[in-house]
Amino acid sequence: VRIAVLGAGVVGSNLGRLWLEHGHDVTFGARDPESDKVKALRQAAGSGLRVDGIAEACEPAEVVVLAVPFAAAPDTLNAAGDLSGKVLVDCTNPLEADLSGLTVGQTTSAAEQVAGWAPGARVVKAFNTIGAQHYANPRFGDQVADAFICGDEGEAKALAGRLAEDLGFEVVDAGSLAAARLLEPLALLWIRMAYVEGAGSNIAFKLLRK
Ligand SMILES: NC(=O)c1ccc[n+]([C@@H]2O[C@H](COP(=O)([O-])OP(=O)(O)OC[C@H]3O[C@@H](n4cnc5c(N)ncnc54)[C@H](OP(=O)(O)O)[C@@H]3O)[C@@H](O)[C@H]2O)c1
Repeated sequence: VRIAVLGAGVVGSNLGRLWLEHGHDVTFGARDPESDKVKALRQAAGSGLRVDGIAEACEPAEVVVLAVPFAAAPDTLNAAGDLSGKVLVDCTNPLEADLSGLTVGQTTSAAEQVAGWAPGARVVKAFNTIGAQHYANPRFGDQVADAFICGDEGEAKALAGRLAEDLGFEVVDAGSLAAARLLEPLALLWIRMAYVEGAGSNIAFKLLRK
C-alpha cells in the first residue's frame, strides 16, 4: 500500500517504520523535511524511507495517516491539498495540554472535524486508543490488544484494518465515524489509567465476546 504519514513524532515514526518493514511504500510528509528529527528518522529506518513535503507525500498516496497534534490538524490538512478519494487514517486525540480532558467531544469528535477539513477523504479513526510504544508489539502475554477503528466507508475501514493487522493487532470495527466520539474518550481513559492512576503504560483494551 502506498502510504503518506503526516507527522514524524512518536506515532508517525513508529507506524511508518513498521509499515516499511512490512513491505509498504511509505513516505513521510514533514513540514520541515530537513529537520534534525526527520534526519534521525531517515538514518534509523534506512534507505527505503522517504521524506518529502506534505503535499508531495500525499499526492501519490492511497492512504494518508494524520499523526500530528490535533491543534495542528487544520494547517496540516490544508498543506496536504486535495485528499478526496484517499483513505485518511486519523490517529489524533484532541487532548487538553495538561491531559485533563478533551477539547472536543460528545456531539462531535476530532475525527469528524478532520473529515470536515478534508472534503471527500474517506476518514477512518484508528491507532488512538493505545500508547504508540505498543504499535511494534501489541501482544500482552497470551492476549492481543484490539485496534478499535471506525469510519463511514467499509472499504476504507477494511484497508485501515489490514494495516493494523500487519502490526499484529486484532481489529474491532466500532461502527460509523461518529463512534470516534467514544473512541477518543477511550484514549483519555488509557492515558489516565497509565499515567495518573498508576496502572503504568503496559495496558491495552480488549473487547471480549461470548
Ligand atoms: N503518543 C502516543 O502514544 C499517541 C497514541 C495515540 C494517539 N496519539 C495522538 O497522535 C498524534 C501524534 O502524537 P505524537 O505523540 O506522535 O506527537 P509528537 O511526538 O509530539 O509528534 C507530533 C508530530 O506532529 C508534527 N507537527 C506538525 N505540525 C505541528 C504543530 N503545529 N505543532 C506541533 N507538532 C506539529 C511534528 O512535526 P515536527 O517534527 O516538525 O515538530 C511531529 O512530527 C496526537 O494527536 C496524539 O494525541 C498519540
